Parts: sequence; C-alpha cells; structure tokens
Amino acid sequence: MTLLVTGGAGFIGANFVLDWLAQPGPAGRETLINLDKLTYAGNPETLSSLQGDARHVFVQGDIGDATLVARLLAEHQPRAVLNFAAESHVDRSIHGPEDFIQTNIVGTFHLLEAVRSYWGALEGAARSDFRLLHVSTDEVYGSLGPGDAAFTETHRYEPNSPYSASKAASDHLVRAYHHTYGLPVLTTNCSNNYGPYHFPEKLIPLMIVNALAGKPLPVYGDGLQVRDWLFVKDHCSALRRVLQAGQPGEVYNVGGWNEKPNIEIVQTVCALLDELQPRADGQAYSAQITYVKDRPGHDRRYAIDAGKIERELGWKPAETFETGLRKTVQWYLANPEWVAHVQSGAYRDWVQTHYAHEAAAAGARP
Ligand code: NAD
Ligand code: DAU
Repeated sequence: MTLLVTGGAGFIGANFVLDWLAQPGPAGRETLINLDKLTYAGNPETLSSLQGDARHVFVQGDIGDATLVARLLAEHQPRAVLNFAAESHVDRSIHGPEDFIQTNIVGTFHLLEAVRSYWGALEGAARSDFRLLHVSTDEVYGSLGPGDAAFTETHRYEPNSPYSASKAASDHLVRAYHHTYGLPVLTTNCSNNYGPYHFPEKLIPLMIVNALAGKPLPVYGDGLQVRDWLFVKDHCSALRRVLQAGQPGEVYNVGGWNEKPNIEIVQTVCALLDELQPRADGQAYSAQITYVKDRPGHDRRYAIDAGKIERELGWKPAETFETGLRKTVQWYLANPEWVAHVQSGAYRDWVQTHYAHEAAAAGARP
C-alpha cells in the first residue's frame, strides 16, 4: 500500500513522514511518495535518516504541476493523498501574497483535479477506500474575543490575512469537490504546532535560536495575542487517526486545549533555556525580550474546540504543553547543525548532492 504525501519536507509533513514510517505493524511498512517543491521551507536534511529506505520515495515537484501529479498517481496507485504542501508563514503572506495564492489556491485546485481524475478511474474497494486528507488551519475561522467560545467545525469562516484567506479558499475547493463530485475528502483544521524541525521564522524556534545567539527576542505589539499550541507529533497522530477512521466529507478540528499569550510562551522558552543552557554572563535570557511593531491585521486570539475528534475518533494529545515545550527546547539544543544549515542555506547544497539522483530515480522533474 502506498500514500502520496505533499509538502513532506516541511515542518509538519516531515514529522508526519518520520512518524508514519516509525509506526509498528502494517502502517510502517507502507511506501510514502513525498512530493515537495523544496521552497525555502522544505528541508530534505530533516529526512536524511530515510536515505536508502525503499519505503520513502522523494520527488521534487509542485502540487500545481498536474501532469507530474497525474503521473505519480498512475505510477504508484496510492490509497490516499495527504496534502501538507502550502506557503505557511503569515508574515511572508503580508509582504508577498502571490506565492500563497499560487500554491494554496491554484496548486490545491490542480491537485484536486488530478486526484479526481485518478479516483474516478478506480474500481471496487480501491475506489471506496480512497481518501484525500487536506491539512488546514484554525486561522480560517478568524479571530476570537477574550470571552468567545473556541472554534468548532461549524464556526463561520472569517480569514484575516492573505495566508488564512488562501487556506480558506483551498478548504472551500476541497469541500466543493466532495459535494459536487463525491470525492472522498477529509479536512483537518489544526491550531499552532511546535516541535522538532520547525523553521526558525516561526515564534517558538525563532525565540530559541535568537536567545542562544544573543539576539533580541522580538515580541509583536503588546505580546498578549493568544495562540492554542499543539506538539507536532500529536498533530501527526490526529492525522493518522482521521485518515483511518474519519468520515468522508467531514471536517475535524485538532488542538490541545492549550491557549497561551505570546509573552508567556517567550518567557517559558527563556526559563527553560536558563535551566538547560544558562547564559555565560549569568543573566536571564528574558533580558533579550524586545517589543516591536505589531503584525498588520494581527489576529488577537485562536482557540480550538477539539471535542469532535475526541468524541468521534477517540483521539487525544499525548503531550502537555510543559512536556512538549521541554522536548522542543532540548531538541534545538541537541541539533545546532540542523539550525545552522537552515540559517546558512547550506541545506540547499545538500539537496543537490544527496537528492538529485533519488529524484531522477523516481522519474521526477529536476
Ligand atoms: P512549512 O512551510 O514548514 O512546509 C511547507 C512545505 O510545503 C515545504 O516543504 C515546502 O517546500 C512545500 N511546498 C510549498 N509549496 C509547494 C508546492 N507548490 N508544491 C509542493 N510542495 C510545496 O509548513 P508547515 O508548518 O509544515 O505546514 C504544513 C501544512 O499544515 C500547511 O498546509 C499549513 O497551512 C498547515 N498547518 C500548519 C500549522 C502550523 O502551526 N505550522 C498549523 C495548522 C495547519
Ligand atoms: O494557527 C495555526 C497557524 O499557526 C498556522 O496555520 C501557520 O501556518 C503557522 O505559521 C502559525 O501561524 P501564526 O501566525 O500563529 O504563527 P507565528 O509563529 O508566526 O506567530 C505566533 C504568534 O507569535 C503570533 O501571534 C505572532 C507572534 N510573533 C511571531 C513572530 C515570528 C511574535 O510576537 N514575534 C515574532 O517574531
């Protein structure tokens, strides 16, 4: 059995691939075709432990390349497609929305078309068991006030950034392909993830990396915006469960009931670093916190009601915020090379030398 994963060299996709192949039993024996464009956020070094593992076939390419996707589907006959591929950083979408429109909307459209055509030609159990799982975000629901109830799956869509608007559009397309063509889709809307292999442009890894480098820790606005945090491996376990038991056409919110103001996150990261790798001058890392200009249109609060996935699919996160954040800080302290390569761009060279031949072997375009 085979799965096609898109965006599997990014933060969540790569964690998903690594965790999937580490599963005991039949799941861990399945082949994963990993289609990733390798934008700045895609890092095959994250997947280096899979080098030479026949269960992982990496293909560099774009979800918007319908010919390539159609060929991969025809060749590998996957039982499911999981779509992680996206432009994912809100600040980048504010500076330059176009890539977000291209990948998140147009790319998802082309992927849907290729998958519809493939699925339409399947027969019997292959057709009835097939699933397309679209990985989305809580940001499509907009911003909550302090006393508002957490987002449920029926909350109205009110995206506020070019990023969240592009993800909302992709969710609507996925929904429409189920409603109109009967494509067996599953959509998940997850809260903020954190954990190993997180690109250090996002809040938690940026704070760890800057703190260790003696740089300022930039907190937007008053630092009292609230996000709802989930350890990435818990997101991956939720996706495995949704793929296994989710009902086609259904949406599942994923979250860990972990709302925290940003400033508290930054202070907790600083306290963990004070404990695990104190500053040479004996000062607290929190001395590096610097308040900076706010993000335009900054959403004030996100909170996920994860009641449906808990009730209907029996999923629960394994980590608390305290255990997950400690593991994350420890991972960054133990992996300075991964950080250094990401920051220097050296992993781009690594792509050339280590993956060119694998992509060619898989028949992928350069
Ligand atoms: P990421 O930016 O770390 O990784 C995205 C990956 O997609 C990269 O490997 C990139 O090379 C690849 N990619 C980009 N454009 C592509 C294209 N056109 N074709 C093929 N591959 C392409 O993102 P992430 O944080 O891992 O997020 C993965 C998914 O999960 C996204 O859809 C995102 O919206 C969603 N999500 C993220 C979070 C979070 O906290 N990070 C939370 C909820 C949902
Ligand atoms: O909610 C899910 C979303 O979480 C995902 O869909 C996105 O792909 C993911 O990037 C993330 O979006 P956020 O904008 O919430 O994440 P980010 O890490 O960029 O910022 C988290 C909060 O921290 C946000 O309120 C902005 C603030 N922030 C961020 C950075 C990078 C700062 O105060 N300073 C910073 O330097």
